[in-house]
Amino acid sequence: MLSKYDKFAAVYNRHWGEDSLGWFPQLERLVLHKRDPGSMILDACCGTGQFARKLSAGGFRVVGVDASFEMLRHAAVNAPGCGFICADIRSFCLSRKFGAAFSVYDSLNHLLTLDDLESALLNVSSCLAPRGVFAFDLNTEVQYRTSWSGTWTVPDPSSTTVASTSYCEDTRLAEFRATITSPHRVRPDVVHLVQTWYPVSTVVQALERSGFTDVSCFSLDRNRGIEEARRVLFVAGK
Ligand SMILES: C[S@@+](CC[C@H](N)C(=O)[O-])C[C@H]1O[C@@H](n2cnc3c(N)ncnc32)[C@H](O)[C@@H]1O
Repeated sequence: MLSKYDKFAAVYNRHWGEDSLGWFPQLERLVLHKRDPGSMILDACCGTGQFARKLSAGGFRVVGVDASFEMLRHAAVNAPGCGFICADIRSFCLSRKFGAAFSVYDSLNHLLTLDDLESALLNVSSCLAPRGVFAFDLNTEVQYRTSWSGTWTVPDPSSTTVASTSYCEDTRLAEFRATITSPHRVRPDVVHLVQTWYPVSTVVQALERSGFTDVSCFSLDRNRGIEEARRVLFVAGK
């Protein structure tokens, strides 16, 4: 099945693919330093694979799952030592057990209902080994209210991308639109991605219903507490 990210994959790979590496030191401190070298790690919604590559460089064995075949084509090039599976995080099923799982950079904000979020959490929970840990970030409403409005151009040698974001408080939906023009294409590619947010307490309850027992939350904004954070990191143990 086609994913909304397919047409966006090449531009994402060049312009956004390394953004999540900024949180790596924090994730190392909170999750990775307790994992044995060579542990199996799941990268849920791995995108173009730069985060998986970083995990793999740390000596972990990494499997990435993503719904976009085109994102995964880049991931296979960026992280040749990792395994990749094209599947929906809400319905995938893996028999292998992982010592830890990550889902970084807004990925779970793409799940627009609490049922969908819970399906994803249950699926991740079911493929974690005993004492496994799942760490993921979520944008909060503060992020969408304060940062998701504007239009900008992404400079690129092979295409021009005009991107815009907007947020509607009534629907709680945040939208990202991009028009990608390239000299090789007659028509531009149009990308439309939709995200939503969940209160921290709702996510914690969903984690607990999905089999996680030990849940901690951290602000990913250096100067903001959890209430004002634009992005929250959840670390949940089984
Ligand atoms: C903003 S990107 C983040 C990618 C990557 N984690 C990173 O750090 O760059 C969101 C990713 O989530 C994936 N995604 C969104 N909904 C998904 C779903 N239901 N199942 C699997 N992947 C999904 C998209 O295909 C995309 O690659």
